[in-house]
Amino acid sequence: MILNLFSGNANPELANAIADTLALPLGSADVHSFSNENIFVRINETVREHDVFVIQTFSSPVNTSIMELLIMIDALKRASAGRITAVIPYFAYGRTDKKDQPRVPITARLLANLIERAGAHRVLTIDLHAGQIEGFFDIPVDHLTAFPLFTHYFADRGVDDAVVVAPDLGTAKKARNLAETLGVPLAFIEKRRPVDGVGSEVLNVIGDVRHRRAILVDDEIDTGGSMLSAARILAAEGVREIYACATHGVLSGPAVERLRTGPFTEVIVTDSIPLPIEKQFPALRTLSVADLLAEAIGRIHAGGSVGAMFRPPR
Ligand code: R5P
Repeated sequence: MILNLFSGNANPELANAIADTLALPLGSADVHSFSNENIFVRINETVREHDVFVIQTFSSPVNTSIMELLIMIDALKRASAGRITAVIPYFAYGRTDKKDQPRVPITARLLANLIERAGAHRVLTIDLHAGQIEGFFDIPVDHLTAFPLFTHYFADRGVDDAVVVAPDLGTAKKARNLAETLGVPLAFIEKRRPVDGVGSEVLNVIGDVRHRRAILVDDEIDTGGSMLSAARILAAEGVREIYACATHGVLSGPAVERLRTGPFTEVIVTDSIPLPIEKQFPALRTLSVADLLAEAIGRIHAGGSVGAMFRPPR
């Protein structure tokens, strides 16, 4: 099957970088909105029986990005594509993944249903908020992690006196993996409601962080609230420097101001979500997931192992 790459409008820079790495052109497609906000897609070249990868991250405007992907998949299906893989570097709505209150939706599941129903045969994504979201799909999901990029980033800079810190207990497993790979200790921030239920959450640091360089890790930075509270308590505990890293830099609302003015030496995210100039600030570093995605696309196309990309060398 011939390999074709297409991109929606969400992150054309990343799509171009993936295409460059694979030494392939991006396929020609018109994806635009009419004045009534209805999205129109036209695929301008044949895809009949081709192995098509549609690259579309769920970045702002999130719901438009989602609709563009669904409509592109529909157009490709109706154009007789042989296989369609939705390449979704950032899968939005991942935090709405359980019915933990009465009368609430499981939107991540709804989104999985929509992608499948539109006609995708496979999904390729990075650092889902919860691994279980993979199970919302009845089609194969290749779930990559950007954490090796962080490992290399910190290993190159030296990790003397470093400690990896999980900003909450939900992130503990990811933090532990990074700490183990870097060969440094692990600490956690524990959030606790006051016993009488009155007042705001109390944060405790579990682990030895004093005079160390703290590497805070999370899957995403949204409003920056979690990273800022974690950084403040770490600063109060006498850490030497604070690095905040997360795969997805959503950076919504007050995030940029919080990260710019907070006690961070560096804030490291990937380009899974585009970072326009107004979201940039001096301490921000961006690592690219283009090579990671390109490698996975190449392996999926060739029927090779994607898991082997993440196995430690023997
Ligand atoms: C939450 O469960 C996630 O892992 C992140 O901690 C969260 O999305 C960060 O959100 P914010 O930056 O708004 O605190």
